[in-house]
Amino acid sequence: MKYAIDVRNLTKKIKNNVIVDHINIRVQRGKIYGFLGPNGSGKTTTMRMLCGLLSSDEGEGHCLGFDFKKESDKIKSRVGYMTQKVSFWEDLTIRENLEFTAKMFYEDDIEKRVRESLENAALTPHADRLAGTLSGGWKQRLALAACLIHEPELLLLDEPTAGVDPKARKEFWETIRRFADGGSAVLVSTHYTDEAERCDKIIYIAYGSIMAEGTVAEIKSGFSSLEDSFVYHINESLRNKS
Ligand SMILES: Nc1ncnc2c1ncn2[C@@H]1O[C@H](COP(=O)(O)OP(=O)(O)O)[C@@H](O)[C@H]1O
Ligand SMILES: [Mg+2]
Repeated sequence: MKYAIDVRNLTKKIKNNVIVDHINIRVQRGKIYGFLGPNGSGKTTTMRMLCGLLSSDEGEGHCLGFDFKKESDKIKSRVGYMTQKVSFWEDLTIRENLEFTAKMFYEDDIEKRVRESLENAALTPHADRLAGTLSGGWKQRLALAACLIHEPELLLLDEPTAGVDPKARKEFWETIRRFADGGSAVLVSTHYTDEAERCDKIIYIAYGSIMAEGTVAEIKSGFSSLEDSFVYHINESLRNKS
């Protein structure tokens, strides 16, 4: 099975507004897909539908080989979803937060799993710090460690590096690249074009419709920069809607 996500006609309506408008979305295993687009274009809504946290109005297809509408329980246990606004138990330490998360998925080897997770995220020296005292980059690192603890086959990361300093962002990307190299798929939303350049493929969504899809070179083709390409697609989208 080449595709971790293979869904067609995905649609969400809220009241009379079409928030996500019959999009087709395919994400290969072992690859990182960047999900870009202006605020309010439906990125978060799409991710929530894909992992079964939000129902869709239309659409058919599979996530990790399971029917994305009927088998969302099976999908949820195999997906790591990092929400746009991460949250922890602030009065627990980093280690305790990871223990809590590990216990949601496993009965055995909790200590070993937490130890490995702390090591992988380079959090071991900070394991006894209270999560509530962490700054942005460290919070993201803990959130990613918590997302990875059950070794998901698919990672959905919703603007995981917003407001994070460049060094922490670089480390974050190195971690998700290692993870993808292990065969899992990653769909990550971001507004940063330097991050888009690190993706194997980009999906560009504007106001509920996918406007462009392909490698960075393909998206850039005919434009002087990725930004210019994105601006063009935003304007096209607005023109189509009006
Ligand atoms: N529960 C909701 N009720 C009403 N409108 C919503 C709700 N959730 C999302 N929307 C609207 O749907 C659109 C897409 O939102 P979202 O998926 O969060 O976009 P993005 O993540 O790309 O910024 C926005 O216009 C937002 O206001
Ligand atoms: Mg969002």
